[in-house]
This record gives sequence, structure tokens and C-alpha cells, in this order.
Amino acid sequence: MSQMLDFNEAAAKALEAMYLTPDVVAQSARVLDLLAPRPGEKIIDIGVGPGLLAEDLARLVGDTGRVTGLDMAEPMVKMARTRLAALPQADCVVGEATALDFPDGAFDAAVSTQVYEYVADMPKALRELHRILKPGGRVLILDTDWRSVVWHSSDEARMARVLDCWDGHLADPHLPAKLGALFARAGFQVRRVEVVPMLAPQWQPVSYAAGIMRTIHGYARANGAAKGLGAEEIQAWYDDQLRLAERGEFFFSVNRYAFLATR
Ligand SMILES: C[S@@+](CC[C@H](N)C(=O)[O-])C[C@H]1O[C@@H](n2cnc3c(N)ncnc32)[C@H](O)[C@@H]1O
Repeated sequence: MSQMLDFNEAAAKALEAMYLTPDVVAQSARVLDLLAPRPGEKIIDIGVGPGLLAEDLARLVGDTGRVTGLDMAEPMVKMARTRLAALPQADCVVGEATALDFPDGAFDAAVSTQVYEYVADMPKALRELHRILKPGGRVLILDTDWRSVVWHSSDEARMARVLDCWDGHLADPHLPAKLGALFARAGFQVRRVEVVPMLAPQWQPVSYAAGIMRTIHGYARANGAAKGLGAEEIQAWYDDQLRLAERGEFFFSVNRYAFLATR
């Protein structure tokens, strides 16, 4: 049984902190390069989260453009609205990626980072995305494939059990491998695919790796029992990582995949 993350207020704050780390800031810069937003465009950010990318998008489309952030979680929409308050060309709505409440052809472009991996019905979500884009409209989707993780541990079997539990936080922890075919079936043309690595060859307390380690620790404590993971084993996994960090032996890497497609 999988158990999705609860995007409540505490999770919104933790996500925001992780998204302000240099690794994720670099990812956002690449996403913006690939999407290439232009002044005057109407862009939707699906699963807007804390609104960091939407803020950059709003500045790039300028006051003749429009950025709409959509998220199913009210705490996320609240945080994004606060961040975007000084930008009248941006707004945020509560909504569901598989049932977009916008007219056909409403947007020039769409972006969605780390969201569709949470969506169970991808054909429906992509049909909706296709419908709300103008003909020729661009979409940039970025998601993680957790099979790509390389994470040093003193106990590989325990690490595998913890990561197996963590896979349960997503509808599909291996979405990128299927995304090209899903796009094609929904009528999109894939223009470019890139790997965006989250790489920590050594321990940095302010990094994506440190943030995700804490998030996995919390998730496994709450949901590990269903996977046969006891509290002691989870703590031993976490303590091992801190010891490796102290000894200069920490290593973490996972790949995200960015797909640029057109309607
Ligand atoms: C990991 S966060 C990513 C946030 C943001 N896109 C970013 O990269 O900073 C995932 C976000 O997707 C939202 N989300 C997940 N499933 C969704 C769905 N089916 N419809 C709308 N939003 C969804 C969550 O509420 C959460 O804010």
C-alpha cells in the first residue's frame, strides 16, 4: 500500500527550504532556459508548490503576460499567493491536475516540476494539459526517477528497504521512463529530454540531499510499519548517514528528467 506525502503547512515550509538550496535553484534556472518564457505569454504552473518558479515566470512574462499557479493543496496555494502578492500578473488557484478548470487553448505554455509523479491517471492529466494549451503551445515537465539513486550506505540491504518504503510516497516513482510514450499518446511532440542531476558528492547541511534525507526519515517513521520497517531500523539508517557525513564518506545522487514538448 502506498501512502502519498501530505502537503500540509509543515510540509510546505520544508519544501520551500529544500527548493531554496543551490541544487534546486540551479534546476529552476535550467527549467526556465528550456521553457524560454516570453513577455506577454500566458503560462500555467501545475503543482505550483511554494511558488518559487511561478515568481520567476511572472517576472519573465511581465505585466502584459499572465502566470497562473495551480495546486491541489491549500497550504501550498496560500504560500504561493503570499510570494506572488506583489506581482499582479500572477494568481493561484486550488485545482486538480486531472481536471483543469480552464477553457480550451487558454495558455501559451505550461510547466510542472515534481508533480506528475504524484498523479495516478497520467493519460487523463496529459489530455487535460493538451486541451488547455494553444496549438503549438510548449510544456516542460520535470520528474525524478528514483531508480537512478546512488546513495552510499554501510548497509546496502537496509538502504534498499528504506528506499522501497520511500517509493510509496509517489503514484509512480519511475515516471520519466514512460513519459515520452505518454506524451506521444496524448498528441504531444517531444522536442528535448535532459537529465537534471541532484548531486552531493560530499555532505552539505544546506542541500537538497540533506533536505530529502530528513524528509525520507520522517516519511519512513510515519509509514514504514506497513513495509515491515521498524523505528529502530529507520533510526539506524539515519544515524549511519550522519556518521558517514562526519567521516567525509557521504555520497548522494539522483536524476531528474526534463521533457520539453509541444502541442
Ligand atoms: C514536490 S511538490 C513540487 C512543487 C513545485 N512544482 C516545485 O517544483 O517547487 C509537489 C506539488 O504538487 C502538488 N500536487 C500533487 N498532485 C497534484 C495534483 N494531482 N493536482 C494538483 N497538484 C498536485 C502538491 O500539492 C505539491 O504542491
